[in-house]
Amino acid sequence: MCGIVGYVGMRPALDVVLAGLKRLEYRGYDSAGVAVLADGGLATAKKAGKLLNLEKELAERPLPTGPTAIGHTRWATHGAPTDANAHPHLDNAGRVAVVHNGIIENFARLRAELAARGHESASETDTEVVAHLLAEEFSSCADLAEAMRLVCRRLEGAFTLVAVHADEPDVVVGARRNSPLVVGVGAGEAFLASDVAAFIAHTRSAIELGQDQVVELRRDGITVTDFAGRPADVRGYHIDWDASAAEKGGYDYFMLKEIAEQPKAVADTLLGRVDASGSLTLDEVRISTSELREMDKVVIVACGTAFHAGLIAKYAIEHWTRIPCEVELASEFRYRDPILDPRTLVIAISQSGETMDTLMALRHAREQGSKVLAICNTNGSTIPRESDAVLYTHAGPEVAVASTKAFLTQLVACYLVALYLGQVRGTKWGDEIQAVVRELSRSSQDVERVLDTMEPVRNLARSLADKPTVLFLGRHVGYPVALEGALKLKELAYMHAEGFAAGELKHGPIALIEKDLPVVVVVPSPRGRSVLHDKIVSNIQEIRARGARTIVIAEEGDEAVAPYADHLIRIPATPTLLQPLVATVPLQVFACELATARGNEVDQPRNLAKSVTVE
Ligand code: M6R
Repeated sequence: MCGIVGYVGMRPALDVVLAGLKRLEYRGYDSAGVAVLADGGLATAKKAGKLLNLEKELAERPLPTGPTAIGHTRWATHGAPTDANAHPHLDNAGRVAVVHNGIIENFARLRAELAARGHESASETDTEVVAHLLAEEFSSCADLAEAMRLVCRRLEGAFTLVAVHADEPDVVVGARRNSPLVVGVGAGEAFLASDVAAFIAHTRSAIELGQDQVVELRRDGITVTDFAGRPADVRGYHIDWDASAAEKGGYDYFMLKEIAEQPKAVADTLLGRVDASGSLTLDEVRISTSELREMDKVVIVACGTAFHAGLIAKYAIEHWTRIPCEVELASEFRYRDPILDPRTLVIAISQSGETMDTLMALRHAREQGSKVLAICNTNGSTIPRESDAVLYTHAGPEVAVASTKAFLTQLVACYLVALYLGQVRGTKWGDEIQAVVRELSRSSQDVERVLDTMEPVRNLARSLADKPTVLFLGRHVGYPVALEGALKLKELAYMHAEGFAAGELKHGPIALIEKDLPVVVVVPSPRGRSVLHDKIVSNIQEIRARGARTIVIAEEGDEAVAPYADHLIRIPATPTLLQPLVATVPLQVFACELATARGNEVDQPRNLAKSVTVE
């Protein structure tokens, strides 16, 4: 939520910051703003709406150029998305500018105190108090980094702050608590951003900031301290993807590109995880095999699409390891006093590695003595840093708000973890594990084949653009796939969409069926649990008899469903547990095309942001 960029160096800082904001717009797009230090003062521009509005404003009323600037793209929390509430926020003298991601929980009290001391607020945001407080502290210490440390010690909540002061024109200061902030290190220049995508075009050398740290950027040096001013250990790393990975590469939308990248993402996530003898070697899983053998329960915590990956993982974990597995929405987890102990393995799944609900859930689990394994796509992000172990998915940067390739790679990572647990605990023989890994390796080609046959799905989606509702049904691992199909349609097409376990139909949802209602049904393989297949064929007949328009996703060669399908979408035959890897793809394409047909913003759906860093 919210994208932040800061720059100091020899380039025109405003250009660097605007280019960075463009790359971060997926994080929030309610408003955008910039501040440049130039001619001994501070010049700002900010506009409600997308970055484009700010760019138009800057074209009409250009700002002076200078070597130091900050910028922000907002996902509104406190205060409506208006020009006044857009960041940066300034102190009353217009000497300090600050941008912020997160929520300052004690802002109301701080604002009242500031008002009592004569400060006037120009916005409804929680952020503005920081600008006023920084100005007060700076007036006595004349050091922006020190002022930031003093202010941070008074703030409660989650925040990333980046600030500049007109009296220190070659300095950008950042602070971090529970919200992401990375430093880019260049030659004679430095960057600050919520995500490396903002500066990857200029440098691939980055520094992770830890919790409760303040960083001071100058052209010739970077200083990191904790909030008390003690020097902090700095961990640098190399960013292993390049600028082209963060570009659309000829596609109309990032989502289309990311859907197309899935075969590679799946293959990359499997790479290097099996040794010459066929055993799984998950080197990053730094929980000892003896500890893993002792585990008597697995609990998966995640949100949204990652939660659906967790629901699918449960089937594999329980089937392959015989360890009971619970899957819980991270946002609910710690509030119900879950039963956790050192023999519980908690798996936190997150593409961004910054989702606050998931972060809070894993912190709670660790406080109770449980070990946490993160499945994550973002190197150096908070969730893997705070976990005992991590398995990285190698999906590459996912920019579209709707998660696609991250989901498929999360599934692959979950299967790997399940097999690894089976290997360590001896519930799966080596040859059985190798057989599944061979099937997993084939899934990359299977996804490719699905992608090659999507034209009828796109045509179908366009023909349904004026429908108010679409329902999704599935059984077994097809049930979470149905939930995922419905989520994609809600967030992209803004249509009413519900996913149901097909067996639940007769317990209520069948009342929704009426003439011409599109119902997507994910059919399990007839070669797996034939009883499940037969039951879902009956479900399809039941809804069709009541007028539903049936859209059936079934594996090649499954002829039993054909007579009851108004539209038949074929997917390659896979083992039952791996079917979600191929069955989800048509649903992603379906939602993307429906959103396009309805004229929606595919990459940036309304009200959403890619990275949800507030609870
Ligand atoms: O970054 P995370 O995987 O933790 O994000 C979790 C959800 O916010 C995310 O999957 C969300 O549901 C997607 N927009 C769905 O497409």
